[in-house]
Amino acid sequence: MVDVVRKEYDAEATNYDTNLSATLPLIRLDNELFISAIGDATGAVILDLAGGSGVKARFAINAGAAAVDIIDISPGMMREGQNIEATLNRDVMRWFEADISQPLDHLPLKPQYDIVMANWPFDHVENMDVLEGMFRNIEKYLKPGGRFLGARTCNPRVPEMIKGSLGAKYANFEDIPGGVRYRFSLDSFESDIVASSMEATYSGSTEIYEKFGLVDIQVEPYENAKVVKEHPKLWEAYLQEPGMAMVKATKKI
Ligand SMILES: C[S@@+](CC[C@H](N)C(=O)[O-])C[C@H]1O[C@@H](n2cnc3c(N)ncnc32)[C@H](O)[C@@H]1O
Repeated sequence: MVDVVRKEYDAEATNYDTNLSATLPLIRLDNELFISAIGDATGAVILDLAGGSGVKARFAINAGAAAVDIIDISPGMMREGQNIEATLNRDVMRWFEADISQPLDHLPLKPQYDIVMANWPFDHVENMDVLEGMFRNIEKYLKPGGRFLGARTCNPRVPEMIKGSLGAKYANFEDIPGGVRYRFSLDSFESDIVASSMEATYSGSTEIYEKFGLVDIQVEPYENAKVVKEHPKLWEAYLQEPGMAMVKATKKI
């Protein structure tokens, strides 16, 4: 499945991180919850697993982070981010192409990081082995007491995600062992992208986070996003059954 994920993100890379996508309500929710969740990151050295075009990495740098190492399976997504960084005249990010569900020892990473983030890769896993492989890297590369941040889907079949009126849509659901496969699209895309999520994460259970050494697992409150504060009516139905959660946790000392 990872080959399909790479191909489909490569094809949509120029449409993922654009002026249009940044205005979509669900992308604003994702980004603004991340900014709220990371808070003050002064001096932090960060590993961004499935960092894509570096949207969250740029927010992390704005929050004071010193450097971000980004790993992603899609060279197209990373190329978009490298082009953006090139216009900013700074050298704060390193980019590595790899599958984050596999061991990453072949990469020249730091032994451990102050923050490890994994925004959305759990929604491209076809089975529990792949999901656990991602968590194994989170545990390995996060220093004791360090922070984890990661956006994930809630139940993909919630009505507001099927309706797609907030800028992102889920469709073509198919049950698979332990979870559900579906297609995901943003209003800025030309086509959609394969997604699949395990009940172990989308159910809201914290068990797998705990299994891999994370404690104090919380979901960033939705009202911390400016877009929710500004347009409460728009979010009424969505917040009854949210389509995403921004999870934050700490690595056990
Ligand atoms: C929805 S995008 C999110 C990108 C970025 N984290 C963000 O929040 O904007 C999902 C990213 O996960 C990457 N991805 C999915 N599965 C992966 C895997 N097994 N290894 C590395 N990257 C993966 C995709 O290539 C894509 O860039």
